[in-house]
Parts: sequence; structure tokens; C-alpha cells
Amino acid sequence: MRSNIALIGFMGAGKSAVGRALAAKLDMEFIDLDTLIEEKAGRSIAEIFARDGEAAFRSMEAEITAQVAGQDKKVIACGGGIVLEPNNIDIIKKSCVIVYLAAEPAILLRRVLNSRQRRPLLEVADPASAIDNLLKFRRPLYEKAADIIIDTSQLDIAGAAGKINEELVKNESFNLEKHRTRQG
Ligand code: S3P
Repeated sequence: MRSNIALIGFMGAGKSAVGRALAAKLDMEFIDLDTLIEEKAGRSIAEIFARDGEAAFRSMEAEITAQVAGQDKKVIACGGGIVLEPNNIDIIKKSCVIVYLAAEPAILLRRVLNSRQRRPLLEVADPASAIDNLLKFRRPLYEKAADIIIDTSQLDIAGAAGKINEELVKNESFNLEKHRTRQG
């Protein structure tokens, strides 16, 4: 049985906001992998990308993923690039039900532009094309990794968390008994 829930998906999919709402709903602890990486590195993701480069960031991401996946009863928001390293997915699959939060590219762009969070990969002249190009490669990886796929394009945070909860009830590999304390 898997007792964690990992949220994957592109930047702007709502992994952190929805993850927090879902954790509160299920009375589970919420963990944000990007935040853990920043705490461990002692600097922001943007600084890690600028100073050390993307490859260094990816290796920190892999290290933190392995540490977190060994835990129990957590809702884990993963960075958008977690699927780039197949081993990350193999590891989280063992203890997590994987939920892919999908959204239309135009919606991802709007959410990213409205967010104060810095995304080095989208700090380019044409972020809309960058999203299209990255998604072409990544979408099949998200879909392949996922146990559950939720299209969040038309959902708000509470709506997405509610939809995940409904799907978890149907998912036999998720250990429900431990998490049914606070639902209404
Ligand atoms: C990345 C997504 C970011 C962060 C980093 C790289 C990516 O996380 O890990 O900027 O490659 O998609 P969010 O998906 O939470 O924005």
C-alpha cells in the first residue's frame, strides 16, 4: 500500500496550492520539494540555476526526492521537472500515488505570469513557446508516470483538491484508512 500522494505536472499546474489544500482535507502533512531544495542549498531555485546551473539543480532534486519518498503519509508537491529523471519516478512510485495536474498551455502561462514565484526556465523572451516546447517532451512523461490525471484548467484550488480526493477513493492502491479523518 502507498500512503503518500505525489503531485506532478508543469509549472503553474497548481501543485503547491492544491497540495496544501489536499493535505489539509486529508489531515496529512504537506511537503514542497522545491522548498526543501532551497532550504538545503541555502539559496533560491533561481540562484541555484544562475550560479550552479540546471544539472546541479537536477542532482539536488534527485537527492531530495529519494529522502522524501521514504516517508509516510505526506502530500508531496514535486517540481515540474521531476519526470526528467526516470529514477525519480521509480522511487516515488513505490510509496506514492502519483497525481498529474494537467492544464492547457494558455492557462499554465497565465498562472505563471500571475505568480510571484520565479521560474528560471520561463524567464525567456517568449515564455508561451517555451511552455509549448517543454510540454511536447514532458507531457508523455507526466501521463506515463501518473496513477490519476486531473485537468485543472477549469478548476480552482478547492475544486482540484476535491477532485483528487474523489479519485483517491477509487484508487485501490492508496491506503485510505489512514487518511479519512477530516473529510466532509
Ligand atoms: C522546474 C519547475 C520548478 C522548479 C524549477 C524547475 C521545471 O518547480 O523545480 O524551476 O523544470 O519544470 P514548479 O513546477 O513548482 O514551478
